[in-house]
Amino acid sequence: LADERESMYLVSEYAKSYFEEVLWNTEPGKAIGHTYFKERGFTDDTIKKFGLGYSPDEWEAFTKKALSEGYKLEFMEKTGLTIVKESPGGGKKQFDRFKGRVMFPIQSMSGRVLGFGGRILTNDKKAAKYLNSPESDIYHKSKVLYGIYYAKQAIAKEDNCFLVEGYTDVIQFHQRGIENVVASSGTALTPEQIRLIRRLTNNITVLFDGDAAGLRASLRGVDLILEQGMNVKVCAFPEGEDPDSFARSNSLEEISLYLEENAKDFIGFKASLLMEETRNDPVRKAETIRDIVHSISRIPDRIQQEVYVQECSRIMDISEEVLFNTLAQIGRKDL
Ligand code: CTP
Ligand code: MN
Ligand code: MN
Ligand code: MN
Ligand code: MN
Repeated sequence: LADERESMYLVSEYAKSYFEEVLWNTEPGKAIGHTYFKERGFTDDTIKKFGLGYSPDEWEAFTKKALSEGYKLEFMEKTGLTIVKESPGGGKKQFDRFKGRVMFPIQSMSGRVLGFGGRILTNDKKAAKYLNSPESDIYHKSKVLYGIYYAKQAIAKEDNCFLVEGYTDVIQFHQRGIENVVASSGTALTPEQIRLIRRLTNNITVLFDGDAAGLRASLRGVDLILEQGMNVKVCAFPEGEDPDSFARSNSLEEISLYLEENAKDFIGFKASLLMEETRNDPVRKAETIRDIVHSISRIPDRIQQEVYVQECSRIMDISEEVLFNTLAQIGRKDL
C-alpha cells in the first residue's frame, strides 16, 4: 500500500510538470493557458511559483503521454487524473479528467503534489467552474489547505493566518506580498484543516468573499476554530469583491489598511451582523442571542468567555446575567 501511494505521488508530480510544460511550451498552452493567467493579473514568476499549468483540450493528451513515459494507468485512475469507463460496445475508454482547464496543483505541507483544481476558461454557468481531484489514498480534501506549503513560514513569522475561500485569492495575496494565507478550497472548514494551521499559529483571520450567500454558512465553520481555543478574527470584503479582485485593484498598503480597519473579532462581528438582521423582532432576537451564546460556549477558556459575554451584552443591549444563564443552559445541553 505504501508502494501504491508512492506511485500515486509520482504520477501526480509528473502531471504537474506535464501541465506546466504544456502551458509554457505549446501553442495552445501559451495562447490559452498562459493568456488566461496573464489576464487575471498573474506574473510569470507567480505562475511558476505556484506551478500553474494547462491541460490540453483533447480527450487523452495527458493519459497517452504519461503512458508513453511508463506511468501505469492504474495509478492515473486512482489519482483521478484519468477517467476509465466501460464503453457501450465492450472494452474500456479512457480520458483526461481535466481536459481544457487551467490547472492549480494542490500541495501538502511538505510540498508533495496531492491533487489538482482545474478551472474552465469561461464564465459559462452551465459547467462546473472548478473541477477537483477526487478523494484518494493521497488526497483527502478535508485535511488539505491550498497554499500551506508556500505560506507556512510566513504564518509562523507573522503569528497569524489569513484563511480565504479560493485558489486565486491565495495566489493574488502572495503576489502582493502577503504570504501568510491559505484556502479551504470548496469545502466547509474542517477540524483537521484548523489543526494544520494551529501547528503554526494560534491566530486566524477569516476573509469572506463579498457575496452574502456564503457568509452565514461560513460563520458556522468559525465555531470550529473557537472550539480549538484559537483566536478568530473575520473580515468581509465589499459587495462583489473577493480577496483576489480586491488585491488586484489595490496596493499592498491599501490592502493592509483595509484588513486592519475591517478585521473584527469574531463574536463581535457575528453579534453586530445578526443584530442588524434581527432589528426589533423579539422572537428573532432571542434566536440570535442563543446563536451567539452557542458560539461563546465553544470557547474552552472561561475568562475569554466572560470577556465576550460583556462585549455581547453591550452590542445586543441585553443584560450579562441573561447571557450567562443562557451560556449555562447550553453548556449543560452539550454535555
Ligand atoms: N470551488 C469548487 N468548485 C466550484 C466552485 C468553487 O471547488 N464549482 C472552490 C474553489 O476552490 C474556489 C473556491 O471554492 O477557488 C471559492 O469559490 P468562488 O469564490 O466561487 O471562486 P473563486 O476562487 O473566486 O474563483 P474565480 O475567481 O476563478 O471565479
Ligand atoms: Mn465565493
Ligand atoms: Mn474570484
Ligand atoms: Mn471568490
Ligand atoms: Mn451544540
